[in-house]
Amino acid sequence: MRVDHSPEVMDPGSFYRLLTAVVVPRPIAWVSTVTADGATANLAPHSFFTVACTDPPIVQFTSVGRKDSLRNAEETGEFVVNLAPEQLMAEINATATDFPRHEGEFDAVGIAREPSLRVRPPRVAASPVALECVLHSTLRLGDSTVVFGRVVHVAVDEGVLVDGAPDIRRLRPLARLGGNQWSTVGELSELARVPYGEWRSE
Ligand SMILES: Cc1cc2nc3c(=O)[nH]c(=O)nc-3n(C[C@H](O)[C@H](O)[C@H](O)COP(=O)(O)O)c2cc1C
Repeated sequence: MRVDHSPEVMDPGSFYRLLTAVVVPRPIAWVSTVTADGATANLAPHSFFTVACTDPPIVQFTSVGRKDSLRNAEETGEFVVNLAPEQLMAEINATATDFPRHEGEFDAVGIAREPSLRVRPPRVAASPVALECVLHSTLRLGDSTVVFGRVVHVAVDEGVLVDGAPDIRRLRPLARLGGNQWSTVGELSELARVPYGEWRSE
């Protein structure tokens, strides 16, 4: 037995809650931007986030409505995706508060920053990974805007590297689940893909 749900007959809020409870877990892009005058540094979590293209390297996040991160990215053509680590969960949540545009979350929440190498928005100093992006394009979809950014530089804290590669046990990335639930990495498994030439059907 399954329970059926149709967006046509459900109110949008209920359908949104259903969708975000089943499209899980979602990685969190902690997006930093600056206002066009460079005066205010903005920071906000976005869990509608993934890789959009590998060559050229493009990532995407979705702004539900027109928020400061979207406006700044459109006006300056730049943003940084900072990895959201487990130990900063409270700070990340605090940057989701709807501060007015001139009140940047870096200052309001007290998040230490460091300069980026290739773009103007600062990086979160305590985040182990920063993807510095230049705006590729945006796509309006209903009440939301998908923001695509070409990754022009990646900065990784050497403390999370094992044999030269980022190690998931050291990154400890947060994920967003349904409602107000969060999670981090649980039990790990490794499983190699099977090439067709080695495929054996029973
Ligand atoms: C874990 C988490 C994930 C979120 N993901 C999104 C998202 O994907 N898209 C979005 O528009 N808002 C998302 N939000 C809400 C924004 O972070 C919030 O509206 C924030 O105030 C936007 O800031 P800004 O106006 O400075 O861009 C999320 C909030 C949290 C706590």
